[in-house]
Amino acid sequence: MKIAVLPGDGIGTEIVAEAVKVLNALDLKLEMETALVGGAAYEAHGHPLPEATLKLAKEADAVLFGAVGDWKYDKLDRALRPEQAILGLRKNLGLFANLRPAICYEQLVGASSLKPELIAGLDILIIRELTGDIYFGQPRGRRIASDGLFPGTEEAFDTMRYSRPEIERIAHVAFQAARQRAKRVTSVDKANVLETFQFWKDVVTEVGQQYPDVALDHMYVDNAAMQLVRDPKKFDVVVTGNMFGDILSDEASMLTGSIGMLPSASLNASKQGLYEPSHGSAPDIAGKGIANPLATILSAAMMLRFSLNQEAAAERIEAAVKTVLAQGLRTADIFSPGTTRVSTFEMGAAVVRALSSY
Ligand code: IPM
Ligand code: MG
Repeated sequence: MKIAVLPGDGIGTEIVAEAVKVLNALDLKLEMETALVGGAAYEAHGHPLPEATLKLAKEADAVLFGAVGDWKYDKLDRALRPEQAILGLRKNLGLFANLRPAICYEQLVGASSLKPELIAGLDILIIRELTGDIYFGQPRGRRIASDGLFPGTEEAFDTMRYSRPEIERIAHVAFQAARQRAKRVTSVDKANVLETFQFWKDVVTEVGQQYPDVALDHMYVDNAAMQLVRDPKKFDVVVTGNMFGDILSDEASMLTGSIGMLPSASLNASKQGLYEPSHGSAPDIAGKGIANPLATILSAAMMLRFSLNQEAAAERIEAAVKTVLAQGLRTADIFSPGTTRVSTFEMGAAVVRALSSY
């Protein structure tokens, strides 16, 4: 089992180090190789996704990814910005299915900005299409406008686009995931305005006919954003396009109290996957040893489950995370009075200790 470890920028190196520590504490034959990605790779090699890093990722069974990005790269050419590394990995590895669970841990109910009764027991799964939509549609660029409101001035444009097979395959992922859960899928679109998302809705509806045991409903994205804070527990599986999924998954993750807790998996058709925390590189707290490593540790658990076929080891990690929360250990982002504040490193060490009891 070969794992490409790509820590990236900001807190990425700190949190990935803790996840690697946890993986090493399992008695599994894991071969891990580390490479630079994002701003760190740009500094060393002049490109956020060097050929060697991409090759390592392609040849691995799974990629454990930290985070990329820093404001200091905002002035760079778009093609050289750290974000291009993660977009390039998704595209090159065909990682079209992004699973972002939003689970509220019992001990963290108080950390949410919503009332406890709204989120206690929350368990939703956002499935975001990851290699299409306005993120990758062509053409895109800047030009001089020849029509519109201000002809003769500069304008910029991106193309929103989905093909039938792209929608079909992500819809299948959503319906199959729902079968393992509460058997409900909400497909989020903007069919009232966008042709791309009327097509999305039509194709998801067609695919849904193959899953009569799963209830399907459709929701406009603005309404979905509102329902997520009004009554999040009414959702089970939410499936949507790349851009709406980007936005809704950040919203959903914060419902649970801390974005520092949530893992994610990005899978291709052969179950090769990239696993990363749902949060970003947080340059403002990088190097201070206060970042929460649990999202990355839980991403490593997802990696064992989905790409490496090690369900038992995945469950051991998840149980160990629950144990450290029950022990009252908290990094700064989830700290509340009466709990014990620990560093990134101490949290990783505590998870390793807790592993030995399972
Ligand atoms: C995410 C991030 C990325 C995205 C950025 C870093 C390109 O926000 O994974 O959600 O927009 O997909
Ligand atoms: Mg995002």
